[in-house]
Amino acid sequence: MPYYNAAMKQETIKQILQKTESIGETLTVPGWVRTKRDTKEIAFIALNDGSCMGNIQVIADKDKIDDKTLHRLTTGASCAVTGTLVESPAKGQAVEIQADSIEILGDCPADYPLQKKRHSMEFLREIGHLRARTNTFGAVARIRNAMTQAIHSYFQENDFFNVHTPIITASDCEGAGEMFQVTTLPFHTFDGSKGVDYSRDFFGKQASLTVSGQLSAETYATAMGRVYTFGPTFRAENSNTSRHLAEFWMVEPEMCFCDINGNMDLAEEFLKYVLSYVLENCEEDMQFFNKFVQKGIIEDLKAVINADFTRISYTKAVEDLEASAVKFEYPVSWGIDLASEHEKYLTEKVYNGPVIITDYPKEIKAFYMKLNEDGKTVRAMDVLVPRLGEIIGGSERENNYDTLVDRIKDAGLNEEDYWWYLDLRKYGSVPHAGFGLGFERLILYVTGMANIRDVIPYARSARNCEF
Ligand code: 4AD
Ligand code: MG
Repeated sequence: MPYYNAAMKQETIKQILQKTESIGETLTVPGWVRTKRDTKEIAFIALNDGSCMGNIQVIADKDKIDDKTLHRLTTGASCAVTGTLVESPAKGQAVEIQADSIEILGDCPADYPLQKKRHSMEFLREIGHLRARTNTFGAVARIRNAMTQAIHSYFQENDFFNVHTPIITASDCEGAGEMFQVTTLPFHTFDGSKGVDYSRDFFGKQASLTVSGQLSAETYATAMGRVYTFGPTFRAENSNTSRHLAEFWMVEPEMCFCDINGNMDLAEEFLKYVLSYVLENCEEDMQFFNKFVQKGIIEDLKAVINADFTRISYTKAVEDLEASAVKFEYPVSWGIDLASEHEKYLTEKVYNGPVIITDYPKEIKAFYMKLNEDGKTVRAMDVLVPRLGEIIGGSERENNYDTLVDRIKDAGLNEEDYWWYLDLRKYGSVPHAGFGLGFERLILYVTGMANIRDVIPYARSARNCEF
């Protein structure tokens, strides 16, 4: 069978659709039936193999292809079509296949859930194992793939080393206590009154899934200068919103000899690079999002690429919000953590584009952020975008040993747990900075999809871990 080609000689439909120079060639094309339309003499089959959004049209002459085979070519059935590549008279495609024979690979019975053209996102979430077969989820998956490539390219081109930071960790990076425990203790026999003796646990101490690779990335940055980590992170926050997942992917660069301004420059350049990459390399899928998901998104992203991001302090942001006539659900005053309604207001109504907010009050930010001279604010930088709010959170890091010890204590954390992190400030401490980009939030931003559960193959959130 020619289409099982171990040497990857089998061409994808994406490749075949561009083969206008090969008219007249005989090919075998495997794929899944998207739709079938019949006339008296001919069946038109739209065949898709996932390589791109486009289908290849198969012309099945009823003289050549028997009734029984045609009958089995239902939506979702898999088959391999052998035939001649011909110029297509139809609009929207250069070539099509004139079938000589069609081999059924797998039937698809009538209870196949993806019969209709359009399904609700809620329904598709219930069939997470099949939803990648729809146009929307195929496009999201291809965009996600391209963005992964863009992220690695950007950092590799700029002399960053990729570091695989651990998934299991004993330290709470964000100090927010939102960690999932990793344990082999028999919790089903747990007697709550006695407390937990973690010395008997697998690691001999309490361990968790990481909320961020930052602290480990810092150890490598302070050896190699510029590093980045890109991996899964986990948060047991019980927020059931369209922007939060319990398992999500984070991109975290960390740079030595860099302050908060260099960090902001990097974040802006990096985001623009990834947006440009997607617009250049995923045109077909982006046209789909532009047309069906978020009208005008391509122009919006182009405008973002060509404009400078607004940079304001937290204090200015609070002033802007206080000056507003809008009645926010969460009232605004200096010291509050900005809620998503505030972030949206700033990006959509005041500045009409991405905004980087710096110098937040130390009380609402993590212990590792560098304290400003005022003793009240830290060198934090959050990048906010329209429609979503926060997409990046980062900072210059506290590089003074004594200040960091104070900040750890103030945060109610144990100094001893961070002995190795403190060592980085003891031995050749340098100014350094970094940030974390929520990968799924970036995909939401780029595609215009509304819910974060629909831009990761398998969403994990509170009470939701099917598939
Ligand atoms: O702002 P966060 O909590 O920052 C950190 O974790 C730092 N240690 C990163 C660093 O400096 N290296 O998270 C970073 C980003 C957020 O801006 C957001 O985009 C995303 O991660 N994020 C989430 N995405 C999906 N679901 C969640 N529950 C998220 N929590 C944060
Ligand atoms: Mg944050």
